[in-house]
Amino acid sequence: MQVARTISEIRQLVTQAKKDGHTVGFVPTLGALHEGHMSLVRQARQESGYLVVSIFLNPTQFGPGEDFDKYPAHQQQDLQLCEQAKVDAVFLPTVEQMYPQGHCTVVSVKGLSEKLCGVQRPTHFAGVCTVVAKLFNIVQPDLAYFGQKDAQQSLIITRMVRDLDIPVQIRICPTVRESDGLAMSSRNAYLTFEQRTQAACLYRALLHGKQLIDAGQRDSQFVTKAMQTIITQAGPCQIDYVAAVDSQTLEPANEASPGWLLAVAVRIGQARLIDNILLDIPSHN
Ligand code: PAJ
Repeated sequence: MQVARTISEIRQLVTQAKKDGHTVGFVPTLGALHEGHMSLVRQARQESGYLVVSIFLNPTQFGPGEDFDKYPAHQQQDLQLCEQAKVDAVFLPTVEQMYPQGHCTVVSVKGLSEKLCGVQRPTHFAGVCTVVAKLFNIVQPDLAYFGQKDAQQSLIITRMVRDLDIPVQIRICPTVRESDGLAMSSRNAYLTFEQRTQAACLYRALLHGKQLIDAGQRDSQFVTKAMQTIITQAGPCQIDYVAAVDSQTLEPANEASPGWLLAVAVRIGQARLIDNILLDIPSHN
């Protein structure tokens, strides 16, 4: 496995891989890799001749007062996991490589970026889009892998790629969960033992919402209220949102219909946790 720390190094590796006729797969990450990341890597490994993973704690997607300074970093362990997963190259740039002095271009996907997480994190998705657009230009992958866990991010990246005609196919992979249903996340490390148990309420609430809809409930406010109750009863927390939205526009709908997304963002202790499920409601005859 090659470790490239500069843009020119990774470009050379990918250029050679393409000359050799390989399909290039790419998994961008912030590091502190866990099974959620590794499921993307495994899927990408199966579909790509040459696989690149980037590990870059991107400062521009963290707002003031957020967890940039305490975000977990396990570089040696991350590299080992990539090596074991037969990744061909890890791109590990410095902040100076990615944002040289005078950098002032921002990519933003309007509308979608202001919904759900965008309300509490107004600059977050512009930071994500800018770094992902740069990474796509640097790596020039054929395929890029993102997680359904970050449903809004995956949707926004898909829209950015379409709107800017970036020649990459986006693959969205299922959410990987702990045994009690908590979606795996690097931020779960911020939870105390008690909070970790409490945090399973996010998935319980999502499943309850889904059950209500499966049983015929179509009133979205009824569904989200029932979900909120499950979350607040589990322990002290701050709910950023519990939403039932159209999975393509992220607009709230009054009535459930196929393609709804149930999405939650909850602060428990030091951690802001997000999760979602995509509903597949059979249409009525
Ligand atoms: P990060 O949080 O490290 O996540 C990297 C990728 O792993 C994202 O596509 C995310 O959706 C996916 N992922 C995380 N947890 C997952 C889980 N439990 N199951 C499935 N997939 C999971 O998302 C980012 O980094 C950054 O915003 C990035 C895209 C790298 C831009 O900086």
